Amino acid sequence: MLSGRRIAIIGSGTMGRALAGGLLRSGKVEASQLACTARTRQTAEKLSQALGLLCTTDNVEAAREADILVLCLKPMDVVRACEGLKAKGALGHAPLVISIAAGVSTAALKEALGEGIPVVRAMPNTPCFIGKGMTVVSKGTYASDEHAAVALDIFSTMGRTMELEEKHLDTVTALSASGPAFIYVVLESLADGGVMRGLPRAAAIELAAQAALGAAEMVLQTGRHPAALKDDVTTPAGCTIAGILAMEDGRIRSVLARGIETAARAAGELGK
Ligand SMILES: NC(=O)c1ccc[n+]([C@@H]2O[C@H](COP(=O)([O-])OP(=O)(O)OC[C@H]3O[C@@H](n4cnc5c(N)ncnc54)[C@H](OP(=O)(O)O)[C@@H]3O)[C@@H](O)[C@H]2O)c1
Repeated sequence: MLSGRRIAIIGSGTMGRALAGGLLRSGKVEASQLACTARTRQTAEKLSQALGLLCTTDNVEAAREADILVLCLKPMDVVRACEGLKAKGALGHAPLVISIAAGVSTAALKEALGEGIPVVRAMPNTPCFIGKGMTVVSKGTYASDEHAAVALDIFSTMGRTMELEEKHLDTVTALSASGPAFIYVVLESLADGGVMRGLPRAAAIELAAQAALGAAEMVLQTGRHPAALKDDVTTPAGCTIAGILAMEDGRIRSVLARGIETAARAAGELGK
């Protein structure tokens, strides 16, 4: 699906670089199909050397040459950059524009890019750096199923993908894009419990991380409900149920669920 398509990554920070690396490693695109832009010349030169591909500070030229633009800019920069591309006539060939900016709607992007430009929003997360990411994509007004499929193909080079309606994207941002940070807090806390009982810190972190990895794989591979999998571990009168009840006393479920709800509301404010 990406064969022969030219892709420009506009904004080569943390996520832009991860995407460029994922695309190249996957073999789905060659370095000659890919261009990146950065704000400063120093960053552009460093990236050109590190990734072995064209990296400039010229968004307009990169957009003119590309069939697909992936906007990896901060939410507050993305609309201004789109308006600049439109004003400089860089979008006359109606490229597919994919934005990963949290909280910036396809309606706002359409307004900035102009009529007829197909837009897809995508929400990746940092485990994309190691090919274990999750990216959700949503179509905007002019985007077809084929455009969504192209976006899914691009982000599948960095992990799992899913298509959902745009109304869910702020919630997806909280659960899936901010999600790893919440899991790190949980991992650190579980490890602290181990350290309190005398485990060396490194061992406690590894045990907590592997337990989380294994539990997550059990959910994904078996398709069973987490509650059913939890019941498999909780022997009557055993130590697991004792630990769960202590966590329930601290309202662990509502604390985590409210955390997602709060982060989702904050995500909705980011692009404003
Ligand atoms: N990080 C996450 O976990 C995550 C997850 C999902 C989605 N996102 C979204 O991904 C987007 C990028 O986040 P990030 O963490 O990758 O941010 P970042 O590391 O700050 O990257 C943004 C990059 O854009 C460059 N830039 C700024 N203005 C530019 C312009 N006019 N033209 C070209 N490049 C420009 C910046 O260059 P300078 O460094 O020189 O300023 C920087 O390298 C955000 O919208 C965020 O909402 C992030």
